[in-house]
Amino acid sequence: MSKSDQLKKIRDEILNLKESPLYEYRVKNKYYPVIGEGNHDAKIIFIGEAPGENEAKTARPFCGAAGRILDELLRSINLDRKEVYVTNIVKDRPPGNRDPLPVEIELYSPFLERQIEIIKPSAIATLGRFSMKFILEKFSMPEKDMPISQLHGKDLDTQASYGKIKIIPLYHPAVALYKNSSKKELEKDFQILKLFI
Ligand code: URA
Repeated sequence: MSKSDQLKKIRDEILNLKESPLYEYRVKNKYYPVIGEGNHDAKIIFIGEAPGENEAKTARPFCGAAGRILDELLRSINLDRKEVYVTNIVKDRPPGNRDPLPVEIELYSPFLERQIEIIKPSAIATLGRFSMKFILEKFSMPEKDMPISQLHGKDLDTQASYGKIKIIPLYHPAVALYKNSSKKELEKDFQILKLFI
């Protein structure tokens, strides 16, 4: 099966994920699940938290205010969004943009793990602490209990089923919306991604 077909299969499974605590909310509001978007052979995969309202209305990840920051950050290192793959750990919008619940992360993360296995990126850039924690735990990394304030902007080595990869924890771009110093920090941290373009 081609990569596109495998990713479409994931989309279809999530569309029918009636056991999700977020399914009814999605249907009631005529929202879409947000599966992910970008290059299926991307060297870098970006993993956010969960879709917001703009994303749930359009089925596109990071297409609202946080997405504009992400685009600016990508532009600052001459990286086109089309070259990378962008997704979230939770694929449906939590009500009122609340933090994802552990049961939601448990339910949706196997889809993310399959996306990683299909795309086979050489670097995983996590956006925010939820995806960072999940990825560090998934790869049983010694840094798994360290806070994002100590790990952001570092490139950590680990082994995926298909070879060596780097994990790059980054702050969530939404923090830059209300804190200018965080934007500067994100800009500095994004520089490390140039090594993987
Ligand atoms: N925030 C996220 O974590 N993901 C999105 O897709 C949009 C906003």
